[in-house]
Amino acid sequence: MHSHLLLGSLLKDNVTSLSTLVLAVLDPVLVSPWHFLGDWFLGSELTPFERAHGMGFWDYCNQNSEFSNIFNEAMANDSQLMSLVIKDYKPIFEGLGSLVDVGGGTGTMARIISEAFPRMKCMVFDLPHVVANLPDSKNLKYVGGDMFQSIPSADAILMKWILHDWSDDECVNILKRCKEAITIKGKKGKVIVMDVLINEEKDEHDSTATKLLFDALMMVMVTGKERNKKEWEKLFLEAGFSYYKIVSSFGMKSLIEIYP
Ligand SMILES: C[S@@+](CC[C@H](N)C(=O)[O-])C[C@H]1O[C@@H](n2cnc3c(N)ncnc32)[C@H](O)[C@@H]1O
Repeated sequence: MHSHLLLGSLLKDNVTSLSTLVLAVLDPVLVSPWHFLGDWFLGSELTPFERAHGMGFWDYCNQNSEFSNIFNEAMANDSQLMSLVIKDYKPIFEGLGSLVDVGGGTGTMARIISEAFPRMKCMVFDLPHVVANLPDSKNLKYVGGDMFQSIPSADAILMKWILHDWSDDECVNILKRCKEAITIKGKKGKVIVMDVLINEEKDEHDSTATKLLFDALMMVMVTGKERNKKEWEKLFLEAGFSYYKIVSSFGMKSLIEIYP
């Protein structure tokens, strides 16, 4: 990225600002777990984040509202950037009667979609403490719950930056809940995944290096990782989906549609 573009993206008022994302990654809460990476390589069962803070990442967010706010704002920053993507990929969302943004945080992405498609019923589904007290609007509502238990039914499920937080077994579990949600009562919906796809053959070296840095970040903070096409496909098939399509790749993320 050229330096003026980088500077522009760091200015807070810029609609595509990434300043909070950078600040979150440099927060001491996220820096201290790196000191435990050595133990993890030597076979520690706990993630470096658990070693540093005595609990998992999502429990920590639940119990530390100050850090949770920084993290949620960082995620919202990234979603602002994605608004540019929505404009380019309208056909993906056109004709959908309902959509659930699973792990949708404080709703930046779902709000952008609900405004672009006023007839679509949109829902943000996230942990209860994340969506507590967030006001519903005309075609957007907030529901608290646990995606490992069950996911509200809809024509489409959106998951942006969710599956890379989780191990393969956990992803298959989440994807199975998604499949139930889009196939209820004979429906045949789809799952839209926006996540990192490692593509060493096609990507520039710098882009692969950034994705691998995120891979390390997921390994240290949570139980997740970044995946290549083969690894994604394995998850989709194991969860019982029959077809998927990599629609496009932009910046760090790719857009993948999965069908039952
Ligand atoms: C990396 S953030 C992504 C947020 C948002 N999708 C985005 O891209 O801006 C992951 C989200 O998953 C949520 N989450 C974690 N565990 C969850 C669970 N068991 N059920 C529902 N949401 C969960 C977190 O609260 C967080 O908002």
